[in-house]
Amino acid sequence: MSDTKRSLVTGAAGFLGSHLVDQLIKEGHDVIGIDNEINGSWKNLEQWTNNPRFKKVHMDILDIQSDDDNFKNLDYVFHLAALECPITSLEKPEIFFTTNIHGTVKVLQASKQSNLQKFVYASSAAIYGDASTPTLETDSINPMTPSCLTKSQAEDIVFHWGDLFNIPTNSLRIFTAFGPRDFSKLYPGSAVGIWLKQKLQGTPLTVIGNGDHARDFVYCTDVANAFYIAALEGKDGEVYNIGSGHATTLNEFTDLLKAKKSYIKDKVDEPQKTWGDISKFQFGCNWQPRIPLTSGIEFSLDVLSDWKDAPDWDEESLNNFFKAWFEVYS
Ligand SMILES: NC(=O)c1ccc[n+]([C@@H]2O[C@H](COP(=O)([O-])OP(=O)(O)OC[C@H]3O[C@@H](n4cnc5c(N)ncnc54)[C@H](O)[C@@H]3O)[C@@H](O)[C@H]2O)c1
Repeated sequence: MSDTKRSLVTGAAGFLGSHLVDQLIKEGHDVIGIDNEINGSWKNLEQWTNNPRFKKVHMDILDIQSDDDNFKNLDYVFHLAALECPITSLEKPEIFFTTNIHGTVKVLQASKQSNLQKFVYASSAAIYGDASTPTLETDSINPMTPSCLTKSQAEDIVFHWGDLFNIPTNSLRIFTAFGPRDFSKLYPGSAVGIWLKQKLQGTPLTVIGNGDHARDFVYCTDVANAFYIAALEGKDGEVYNIGSGHATTLNEFTDLLKAKKSYIKDKVDEPQKTWGDISKFQFGCNWQPRIPLTSGIEFSLDVLSDWKDAPDWDEESLNNFFKAWFEVYS
């Protein structure tokens, strides 16, 4: 019997999933990546196309059967496939429930075929809503949109399946990840992804509000490493915050991009600040965010041309997009 670990990653073609696949293959795992490219792209994993350690499976997680062969003889499942867009989910909530809730159940049911060492779920710090900072894992959950609600409910489902079927589980509540491959086709995605596209085009960076809002920006490879460490070291049944340990204002971040800015109307009820207390994972599992913000921005600017195919967003299209938010929250 080979000692090689076998991992399956859902959402493998996405921003964080592809960085996780990179790390797992470098750690010597055989990796199966599942994605339907609804928001990601297999281009993110082109580097592994001819590598026998990587198997690409183009499929919708909703089509996974409980006896799917891809889920046999696995050591780890990392479940990242999801739709997460607070604003779209105000207008079209159903797809968020089918993908994030029903999809998670499909992945869990198929995972029962393996004697897993760990099932790691990609949750979101957005489920805390407008929380006090630095936010602890024990702070209350307050999802402000259907998208956040589904991320929180799927977390409960993962732990429920873990208890019922004896699957060791962890859930990572990720703050604002950024870095290469942070582009979204379905919705605007992260502000950083939009800014990098705008920087490439030479158009002003669209900043929401007066730029004083702060976010806990964490570099993508630190998040990928967090998934890997959680699989190995995470205590069964625990949730962990994954952030940088710092809050950075939108003005501070965009200053580092050295470009003109244009300020648009604040989204009422957006949390003023997100900032995770990451000590539980740091001290419990010996994980550290290694890439400082300035280096993360440098690494992203080094591959700025990668954003050439990312959708364009400007002040007008973003304002139109945010209309649903204003209707609900003003
Ligand atoms: N990026 C962040 O800052 C952040 C923050 C908090 C939580 N998360 C969570 O981390 C995970 C990964 O996020 P990301 O930023 O890489 O997003 P992403 O959109 O780049 O990746 C998600 C991937 O899942 C795929 N997918 C969606 N629905 C699918 C389906 N039905 N079947 C198969 N594949 C499907 C998409 O095509 C995409 O490639 C998500 O679960 C997200 O909620 C991300």
